[in-house]
Amino acid sequence: MEKIIIKGGRPLRGQVTVEGSKNAVLPLQAAAILAVQGTVTLNNVPPVTDVQLMNRLLRFLNLKTAYGEKQRQLVINGSVPLSSEAPFEYVNQMRASLLVMGPLLARTGQARIALPGGCSIGARPIDLHLAGLRKLGATIKQDAGFIDARCDHLVGSRITLDFPSVGATENLMMAATMAEGITTIENAACEPEIVELANLLNKMGGRVHGAGSKVIRIQGVYYLHGAEYTVAPDRIEAGTWMLAAAVTNGDVIVRNAAAAYNTSLIAKLEEMGVTVIKQEDGIRVLGTSVLIPASVKAMPYPGFPTDLQPQMTVLQLLANGTSTMEEHVFEQRFNHLEELRRMNADFQIAGSVAILDGPTRFSGTEVAATDLRAGAALVLAGLAATGITQVCNPQCLDRGYYDFYQKLHQLGAQIDRFDVKEKFKIKPEQPRQENKGSEPE
Ligand code: EPU
Repeated sequence: MEKIIIKGGRPLRGQVTVEGSKNAVLPLQAAAILAVQGTVTLNNVPPVTDVQLMNRLLRFLNLKTAYGEKQRQLVINGSVPLSSEAPFEYVNQMRASLLVMGPLLARTGQARIALPGGCSIGARPIDLHLAGLRKLGATIKQDAGFIDARCDHLVGSRITLDFPSVGATENLMMAATMAEGITTIENAACEPEIVELANLLNKMGGRVHGAGSKVIRIQGVYYLHGAEYTVAPDRIEAGTWMLAAAVTNGDVIVRNAAAAYNTSLIAKLEEMGVTVIKQEDGIRVLGTSVLIPASVKAMPYPGFPTDLQPQMTVLQLLANGTSTMEEHVFEQRFNHLEELRRMNADFQIAGSVAILDGPTRFSGTEVAATDLRAGAALVLAGLAATGITQVCNPQCLDRGYYDFYQKLHQLGAQIDRFDVKEKFKIKPEQPRQENKGSEPE
């Protein structure tokens, strides 16, 4: 079993560099399915496991992928006949696998995608993806754990989303690029990752307008071709480092962080007494020993990002008084708080609101990461805690952060990651010789 071990109490100091955005690159990888000619070359692609999982799925669909970790460059070639089935073992490991549905349908006229299973941050239904594809003319059936979508060809339509789902907006944008006529997506997600996808689709010959606003208009084209695109820096990774600096009362320059994409976080940090300085190459964050409580609402962009909600609650718990966190995107994204309770946090949860009573003197203990952002929050709490914190299941962090603990180590944290069995030379259990023939306990 692997663990991250932290001896807390040291302010972080120095510089850290943000990788390319995980949540931007996953739909860009899926968009490569649309290129019937040429290759899609993506630069600044982070070496995180979700990107690898998407590549694995693309290869299963018959696309060729080549990734150079050092150059951070991914080349995808889909100019071959494609398979159109995504099995459970791929979709279940990563829900973003669903993003292949729209482009597969547009390119091959069919997509058979396993229904994803449960999720640690909420129910995460896919009704909006399916309703939108139906509006574009697809026939969709569900059987034996699969979604089976088919069409002769897709036809542009007016789609109004009940909620500005990021994934549904992306899936529908990709499907609509090759639909006949014009598609309008209303109440679309406005996240910067949507703009990234539109930029690539337009470089591939698509005609997508209005991305980043509530209404996206797509004029269908006959075919799309390869293109080269450089992925923007990861605003959530940047925000995580900014919060790490604040929770340790440190002084950190977050290189490549774009202030324009983190305005809601910056506003809250400043409200809490943290100094944020925008620089040419990033953002400098200087902590304070007296944090002011704040009320935060995690909302669709440009609201406070749900992907920074768990990390933000750590800072709120350190503040001098009562703060609140409202979660308006996912229904179960407070799992990390129960782990933080084991580190001395005092809070109550009432529906979608967490009431956080500070100031907390976090004390180190063994805690378990339930997902990527929960894992980041636990590490941040460990950095602020007295004593030793052990974070189990650190593989969660590899899904979206590259070299998380090494980057913290470079900022001065006392942190290590190891396999417990290796480190303490725990021998594998020997089969028991006595009681032969008895039932297992
Ligand atoms: N929803 C529906 N029906 C749908 C689709 C979504 O009800 O058909 C609901 C979900 O249940 C959820 C809400 O809408 O309550 C938002 O879901 P959304 O579709 O916007 O999220 P997503 O596309 O599944 C992406 C990111 C998440 C991020 C959310 C919200 C990727 C690969 N994932 O997920 O990132 O939290 O948008 O911003 O882009 C993470 O990086 O840790 C992460 C979870």
